[in-house]
Amino acid sequence: MGYALGRAFVRLGDRVCFGSREPARVAETCRAEGIAAMTGAPRDAAAFGDVIVLATVWQETAARVHAAGSLDGKIILSCVNPTSQSEGSDGERLEIGHSTSAAEQIAAWAPGARVVETFNATYAEAIDMAPQPLRETVLYCGDDREACGLAAAIIERFGFDPLDAGPLRNARYLEPLSALVVHLVRNAGYGPLGIRQQWRRSADLPRWRGEVPRANF
Ligand SMILES: NC(=O)c1ccc[n+]([C@@H]2O[C@H](COP(=O)([O-])OP(=O)(O)OC[C@H]3O[C@@H](n4cnc5c(N)ncnc54)[C@H](OP(=O)(O)O)[C@@H]3O)[C@@H](O)[C@H]2O)c1
Repeated sequence: MGYALGRAFVRLGDRVCFGSREPARVAETCRAEGIAAMTGAPRDAAAFGDVIVLATVWQETAARVHAAGSLDGKIILSCVNPTSQSEGSDGERLEIGHSTSAAEQIAAWAPGARVVETFNATYAEAIDMAPQPLRETVLYCGDDREACGLAAAIIERFGFDPLDAGPLRNARYLEPLSALVVHLVRNAGYGPLGIRQQWRRSADLPRWRGEVPRANF
């Protein structure tokens, strides 16, 4: 997911530094695919970016945030879902929820950073197609207005429709949604490009002109 998002930024003309435990491997992939980006250790990438995309597996996220060095003032776009593969099934199991979320934990581990949760229920394959003609909705949430505004602008530049899902604590609702999307993609035949959500305000939809009695709604 981190590579897909970074590659999309490069396509749009932004300067990108990929942070990895194996920067040489990522540099080789970039060279092979003609992606003009820098690579470095996670700490180098964190120091380089004004905006940091955090796309780590949940189990390693705390360590990766702590290894990143100072994140004070940085905007972190997190797509991290606190999930693990449940044993004996193709499903995802949420490791935390109800009273916190991955995004809130990340904000607690990097208290000077401005965390926005987004793209957590969008497959990397859809990011690879950006900018795309279908205005698919991408939800985001966060507590810092400037950071949220930037996230919305990025979502829009990628060809998606940004939808403000409220404060960071609403990541508690966004993260379980990813587990449902994974279930539909893997087990219900949708595939990574099959879940294309378009959320619209009722006021923006054509008025219903049918004769269905009101009680049916
Ligand atoms: N894949 C998607 O389409 C998608 C979509 C939405 C959200 N997400 C979320 O994005 C996050 C990353 O998902 P992914 O599918 O991109 O996962 P991934 O490719 O398996 O892993 C992402 C990165 O996590 C690091 N990592 C993996 N194992 C590690 C370990 N043992 N110790 C330290 N770092 C380790 C690796 O960085 P290095 O480069 O250092 O090896 C790896 O590139 C997850 O939280 C997932 O829920 C994924």
